[in-house]
Amino acid sequence: MAIQKVGVIGCGLMGSGIVQVAAQAGFDVRVREVSDEALAKGTGRIDKFLQGGVDKGKMTAEQKAQVLSMIAGTTRLEDMKDCDLVIEAAIENIAAKHEVFAALDAVCSPNAIFASNTSSLSITEMAAKTKRPSRFVGLHFFNPVPLMTLVEVVRAPMSDEAVLADITAFAQKIGKTVVAAQDTPGFVVNRLLVPFLLDAIRVLESGVASREDIDEGMKRGCGHPMGPLTLLDFVGLDTTKSVGEIMFNEFRERRFGPPPTLRKLVTAGHLGRKSGRGFYDYSGDKPIPIDHQDG
Ligand code: 3HC
Repeated sequence: MAIQKVGVIGCGLMGSGIVQVAAQAGFDVRVREVSDEALAKGTGRIDKFLQGGVDKGKMTAEQKAQVLSMIAGTTRLEDMKDCDLVIEAAIENIAAKHEVFAALDAVCSPNAIFASNTSSLSITEMAAKTKRPSRFVGLHFFNPVPLMTLVEVVRAPMSDEAVLADITAFAQKIGKTVVAAQDTPGFVVNRLLVPFLLDAIRVLESGVASREDIDEGMKRGCGHPMGPLTLLDFVGLDTTKSVGEIMFNEFRERRFGPPPTLRKLVTAGHLGRKSGRGFYDYSGDKPIPIDHQDG
């Protein structure tokens, strides 16, 4: 099946990145947000990133305008009715996702493929609730979507092989390298990444080293682009805590359980970069480590 028109549900950090890379690859993209304000914020993020590309000499102003012309925003799920593929990148709440897919099921063609960008919720559970369980897959992107070249294509037991092939071809067309994963919490990358990030917090809690030295150690010692505490702030402490909890509930292994410092920071509303504070303070020009919250 040829995927031509792509719908994206949610224009937050991940959704806007998905919209952008699909539009850059020449797909006709429709994006739905819950309000005009949320839509303007998301499309503003795309505009800003593309302008950064123009400023860096990576694209021309005309190319930027061409990409933006491929994107149509809406607040109505019904506007997804003629999409060949709808990618959901809304909040990580299973009930909310069931609701979105039920509404999409009612308006989209039975041939349309549904995909979820969830990082840890069950693809099988979402697929089973729709009228098209064989045409439902996981399509997990990484933050920042325009710069990270990986996508995980996640299969549920009822996924159709032809649909998986179509989705893999689509992901490649938008410039991503695909790894195939079975539907288990965290798939491949978060299954390995989340315990590592949580361990970095445990190392901090045990007083082995400072925030900066833990980060510097993993950057210079292992070639990671960001140290784990910086990456936690980048991904969002609430997001990591929630992914860790889902994985802990499934596997019952301590290494997936969010440590006390993470719980405390999230409760305090210190969610990382997006709230201005996490393991570092982002209010100034340069992140400053915050030393007083260790658990
Ligand atoms: N337009 C075009 N290109 C741009 C751009 C723009 N607006 N902004 C940056 N770029 C390009 C740069 O020119 C550069 O390209 P080059 O290598 O050809 O020179 C490249 O993108 C990198 O940009 P920068 O040099 O500005 O930035 P950094 O080198 O500091 O890298 C980073 C930034 C890519 C975010 C890097 O720090 C990184 O990889 N961090 C780790 C991110 C990560 O691990 N993400 C995964 C999180 S887990 C997840 O998402 C899963 C979820 O389920 C939780």
